[in-house]
Amino acid sequence: MSKLRVGIAGLGTVGRGVVRLFADDASRLNEKMQLVAVSARTAARDRGVDLTPYRWFDDPVALASDPGIDVFVELIGGSDGAAKAAVEAALGRGAHVVTANKALVALHGSALAESAERNGAKLLFEAAVGGGVPMVKALKESVAGSRASTVAGILNGTCNYILTEMENSGRSFEAVLSEAQGLGYAEADPTTDVGGFDAAHKLTILSAIAFGTRPDFAHVRVEGIERVTLTDIRLAGKLGYRIKLIAKGSQVDGAVEMHVRPACLSFDHPLANVGGSLNALVVDAEPSGQLTFIGRGAGEGPTAASVASDLIDLAEGRAGYAFGKPLTQLGAAPRATPAERGRYYLRLLVKDRPGVVAAISDRLAHEEISIESFLQMPVSEKHTAVPIVLTTQTCARSRMEAAVKAIAALDVTAEAPFLMPVEHAGQRWSSS
Ligand SMILES: NC(=O)c1ccc[n+]([C@@H]2O[C@H](COP(=O)([O-])OP(=O)(O)OC[C@H]3O[C@@H](n4cnc5c(N)ncnc54)[C@H](OP(=O)(O)O)[C@@H]3O)[C@@H](O)[C@H]2O)c1
Repeated sequence: MSKLRVGIAGLGTVGRGVVRLFADDASRLNEKMQLVAVSARTAARDRGVDLTPYRWFDDPVALASDPGIDVFVELIGGSDGAAKAAVEAALGRGAHVVTANKALVALHGSALAESAERNGAKLLFEAAVGGGVPMVKALKESVAGSRASTVAGILNGTCNYILTEMENSGRSFEAVLSEAQGLGYAEADPTTDVGGFDAAHKLTILSAIAFGTRPDFAHVRVEGIERVTLTDIRLAGKLGYRIKLIAKGSQVDGAVEMHVRPACLSFDHPLANVGGSLNALVVDAEPSGQLTFIGRGAGEGPTAASVASDLIDLAEGRAGYAFGKPLTQLGAAPRATPAERGRYYLRLLVKDRPGVVAAISDRLAHEEISIESFLQMPVSEKHTAVPIVLTTQTCARSRMEAAVKAIAALDVTAEAPFLMPVEHAGQRWSSS
């Protein structure tokens, strides 16, 4: 059988890594396929890999449209523009596509999968979620025979690195972010990462596969880590919690709820000790039970290895449907009303006046919310406001939000209250 002919568009961190794997004699990639062409913006750039054996294309759409390419590997990035145009061109003529582009798959996954199926092509994206950790494959294959109720993970290495460094070094969010940018761990514009959107793209993809629904990014409620302060990390730590950015999708009575937000995890929680830039995913499924996947979520080596594993699946005839099932069998995800119940962490910056704590307790009591623990930072002479933190016993999120609104209206707070859910090990992950 003739070898599959591969073209790679995008020769940055990941693309360069895949070219290196093709050049490595020990890699299985060359057994059943060969790299024949590459594309990037600047032909003259030294990328530390020998590109002379491969045809060069200035235009990734021309590469994707070339009949001499059987598999188009998209490693450009971005939900639209050149990446989307090139992937559409490849699928439109029946060429297989392998991509690491979570934004593209989260926003346009249904249309791309539809084009793939119509034209007899495969669309694979293991590297789009979890870098080197085989999260997509695990859900498509290992958990396929079970019924997943929840997928919950730490899916953005930059946020996890920032939160871990804040805790370990005692530096502020701004200081750690700025250092991460200097080291190249965070983008110059960090909004996609710290705002939670990158994790939301990945959650969209995982939820679609886990729950058998079409990817629906617009349905994810997204909150980033920008408001997490050193005070939160220290006080949550005193109460036995570690703060993580959690991306979570739950299926309740056939309806799907997805959110990305910072949460306080008890120290024995399966995701609490996933530190630095590691990624992890916890899947609750019946009858499999709880499964945990953990590893390096980004970087040249792990991400290129995931691209390579998709290529090998293609070459060995193991590639299935993009989201695990034919598109006609994927339902539109009915949106769950967030009827969430749980415990909460609330940080308030309150004016240093008598009666403030009593007024706050009164607003909570009005919503039948019981306080579990309460911490106050010492008042310094030069400050007129003081941070207080409390955690609650289990209550309805709607009542917690009503209480927070009432507290904010009291004119005793010096900044908007900050609310996070509290999660314990062994707690059922479902939202209602
Ligand atoms: N980096 C990671 O660890 C990681 C992990 C998981 C997934 N991903 C995903 O993998 C993809 C690639 O990420 P990356 O980090 O490798 O990106 P990158 O380092 O920024 O590289 C992007 C590449 O795309 C090329 N490019 C950009 N615009 C182009 C255009 N209009 N036409 C042709 N080529 C164009 C660039 O060309 P020039 O080099 O000539 O400028 C560059 O080679 C993204 O979807 C990303 O989300 C990355």
